[in-house]
Amino acid sequence: MSTEAVETPIHYPFPWTPPMEIPGALRGLREKAVVTVTLPSGDKALLVTRYNDVRSLFADHRLSRNIARPDIARVSKDNDLFMDPKIDPDPPHHTKVRGLVTRAFTARRVEALRPVAWEIANDLMDKMEAGEKPCNLNEAFAFPLPIRVICKLLGVPAEDMPKFRALVDGFLSISKLPPEEVAASRMGLWKYLDDLIQSKRRDPGEDLISGLIQVSDEDNNRLNEHELGFWTQGLLIAGYVTTASQIGTGTAVLLHNRQMVKEIQADWSLLPTAVEELIRCQIMGSSVGTMRYAVEDITLEDGSVIPTGSSVLLSEESANMDETVFPEPFTIDIRRKENHHMTFGAGLHYCVGAALARMEIQVATEGLLRRFPDIRLAVPGEELPRGLGGFMEGFTDIPVTW
Ligand code: HEM
Repeated sequence: MSTEAVETPIHYPFPWTPPMEIPGALRGLREKAVVTVTLPSGDKALLVTRYNDVRSLFADHRLSRNIARPDIARVSKDNDLFMDPKIDPDPPHHTKVRGLVTRAFTARRVEALRPVAWEIANDLMDKMEAGEKPCNLNEAFAFPLPIRVICKLLGVPAEDMPKFRALVDGFLSISKLPPEEVAASRMGLWKYLDDLIQSKRRDPGEDLISGLIQVSDEDNNRLNEHELGFWTQGLLIAGYVTTASQIGTGTAVLLHNRQMVKEIQADWSLLPTAVEELIRCQIMGSSVGTMRYAVEDITLEDGSVIPTGSSVLLSEESANMDETVFPEPFTIDIRRKENHHMTFGAGLHYCVGAALARMEIQVATEGLLRRFPDIRLAVPGEELPRGLGGFMEGFTDIPVTW
């Protein structure tokens, strides 16, 4: 009989119990630099837990982001999220392509969207004010805001938005929808974006897709048609649901902590640090999107080795709770100054939309707290349901009143 202790499997993503709090499983997790976790598919992956390791691995060429390979762990059996065998997501090719996208995604383009975001936020809040109370903050505000901003950025016509949102929601299901529906949404979205790109080629505008077509045509490293579609889709998906979940769930956490709301309303200069702190706490999801594959053995700071062929998850949420970097990491401190969290990743794939996301979340939070000074949750925060089985795990229903 074996004398070895049998380890209890660690299921990932970590459970949200209680739902308003950072998962308890993150406490003490960094005692080991790397832990084996079991994913919803039943596959196993190595989860890297410590800040310095996670940061350096985000920039490490020995970790491939090419997840379209048969021997890598699958997050879900029903949805091969972001896998595309026709795309090379690793340096040096990825770096060139990414350079084109960041060239089109200028700071000027993001800043130009700030008044647009305010206009959209004000319009949505007018509708909230005219409608019934309580209302679901997600439906009324948190989801429509980023989808309308991203549609403006990409040049998607306003009348297409509802159809567009349904396709994106289907695309992002991990275990909520049957595989046929996920496949139909993926194909529908791809076809829609393909048609949109063709129309921008014929009739360019001020939008990002037109910008992307232009920089790629001017450059020797031009994107092929497939890459153009893939990146447009990536920008859309990555830019919508993450930001929406952060706006809804971040606001819910704030409203649950009324004292923080009062402090911000008494001193609006706290808003940017408060927003950043809520982003650090990554209360809307896990790190299932950071799957990597080790193409060589990698030794971590403490000497542990990630063997070649391992499936690796870079846990931003654990890095963000690293006691050696963030004093009292489990406390939400809206005045936190040094806040180099990794919710937007780092290194080779650092989020190209981080500035846009920050801008939108700031506008959304400030807009709500100014327009509805007494805004509050209409049910106890502990009762808010989380959307498990999706790419994001934020609250699905956030009844608010004011
Ligand atoms: C709160 C909102 C957001 C969060 C938490 C977030 C998070 C992330 C993370 C963690 C990564 C790195 C993934 C990896 O290393 O595998 C990433 C990459 C990316 N994000 Fe975001 N993101 C947000 C908003 C946005 C927005 C608004 C856009 C664009 C409109 C965007 C576009 C992208 C793209 C295109 C990539 C891939 C970059 C690459 O592979 O080089 N994201 N994001």
